Amino acid sequence: MTGSIVSLPAWQSLSDHYQTTGDTHLRELFAADAQRGGRYALEAAGLYLDYSKNRIDDTTLKLLAGLAHECGLAERIQAMFRGDAINTTEKRSVLHIALRAPATERILVDGIDVVVEVHAVLERMVSFADSVRSGQWLGHTGKRIRNVINIGIGGSDLGPVMAYEALRHYSQRDLTVRFVSNVDGTDLVEATRDLDACETLFIVCSKTFTTQETLTNAHAARAWAVGQLGSDSAVGRHFVAVSTNAQAVAQFGIATENMFGFWDWVGGRYSMDSAIGLSTMIAIGPQHFREMLAGFHTMDEHFRHAPIEQNMPALLGLLAVWNNNFVGAATTAVLPYDQYLKRFPAYLQQLTMESNGKHVTQGGQRVDVETAPILWGEPGTNGQHSFYQLLHLGTRLVPCDFIGFCQGLNPLGDQHDLLMANLFAQSEALAFGKTAQEVAAEGTAPELVPHRVFDGNRPSNTILAERLTPATLGALIALYEHSVFTQGVIWGIDSFDQWGVELGKVLAQRVLPELDGASEVPLGHDSSTNTLIERYRRQRRPNPKAIRT
Ligand code: F6P
Repeated sequence: MTGSIVSLPAWQSLSDHYQTTGDTHLRELFAADAQRGGRYALEAAGLYLDYSKNRIDDTTLKLLAGLAHECGLAERIQAMFRGDAINTTEKRSVLHIALRAPATERILVDGIDVVVEVHAVLERMVSFADSVRSGQWLGHTGKRIRNVINIGIGGSDLGPVMAYEALRHYSQRDLTVRFVSNVDGTDLVEATRDLDACETLFIVCSKTFTTQETLTNAHAARAWAVGQLGSDSAVGRHFVAVSTNAQAVAQFGIATENMFGFWDWVGGRYSMDSAIGLSTMIAIGPQHFREMLAGFHTMDEHFRHAPIEQNMPALLGLLAVWNNNFVGAATTAVLPYDQYLKRFPAYLQQLTMESNGKHVTQGGQRVDVETAPILWGEPGTNGQHSFYQLLHLGTRLVPCDFIGFCQGLNPLGDQHDLLMANLFAQSEALAFGKTAQEVAAEGTAPELVPHRVFDGNRPSNTILAERLTPATLGALIALYEHSVFTQGVIWGIDSFDQWGVELGKVLAQRVLPELDGASEVPLGHDSSTNTLIERYRRQRRPNPKAIRT
């Protein structure tokens, strides 16, 4: 797509359509069509999506499909699956779909069948995970591994930690799995405090193996382990790496046979089903990991082949564009009604905001519409007793994605029914609200009526599945990955680069030597930054012993 998106006929039509129908209340839309709840719903890869509580009608859907057509969504989907270099600013293919392709598929990048490589790494992961789980893999002192610590950040942490939490029900319970990401020393110190290094395995995950936080933590972890184990030669039994950078891994001291590779065509935030998921595989076992990959693949195939109108990820993405650009919602809440999905909103934050938080099109022009909405969320029902007040009665419109399961994994009396009753009630209350007449009819004192009126007309999607399984989780993640892709295609941006993280990194490198109070380096920042650094210098404690190399 070249030129401004707002000049596209479909964009104009959607804009006009919103002007004329945007005020129609969900109460009216549901009253006008008794079948609406069933009609505006889709099933794919074990997921059921009810999108009927959006401010849309048949015309909206037709126009959104028209917009997808004008933006070339179908062609872009095929280009991604073909392995074209659709990450144009980094000149790379975008092939996370190859990570879950069956061994019988062929996807060529520069003449190499990447599916063969993916399965070769998978086999090595399987044999390593099995040896740790069974106790065959022994630490330096001959003890079996009881603790696994994943060190990584961003996509090398959020995916693994989210998946571990989500699939904890399926995990081997005599293994402790922890995650260290923050360069704040507290993260590593607290993660290792009660552990015996003889029984602890570190997985250092970094696509680039140059990320400051991860390398700093990895060096500190090595010092902790060597300190307890008494010899540098212990590193080989207690550290493995996942990376695309074999040279840097070797420099750190991890032998190539203990490194699991992946490829530059896997973006960090799209990598939790690559070797970056090694901690997940160790926790839940290779069979469950394969089931998760199969769930991803089923959703991939649906996205690749279903017509746009019946394509769940495409539709979810188009509805996000509708709510963001036409209805005018600046944020989206993701509300999983499942405790195991407690890290899912944090994972989606990186996926959506690092992918689509862009202000320039692939062609280098400034975009003239809003791009990624701010994504946030917490598991239900906790959020209900915190921020749902704003969702129902605040001045801002926040579209919500509710996620729930028909069967709980931990039956406890009627608690699962209670949980799900809350989910259904919340989306109903958001959509339909409560009128002043209804409030007054309940005998509410007149002066309290305005406080207790719920306007409603607040959009939401509900995603339901039978049960949270590895396959369901894979399908759910793929659903959001492809929805994010769809949104990026509509806005004409590169969803697979992340230049926005660079400036802060560079400035931090400049500030670091200045923090030493004894430093002679003159401060040349603005008056705010200078004053903050000077105050820090006065109050800081000197470093006990630098571990960084
Ligand atoms: O935050 C920027 C980023 O590059 C993310 O995209 C990535 O997931 C994270 O840093 C970690 O990068 P790496 O895996 O190379 O350490």
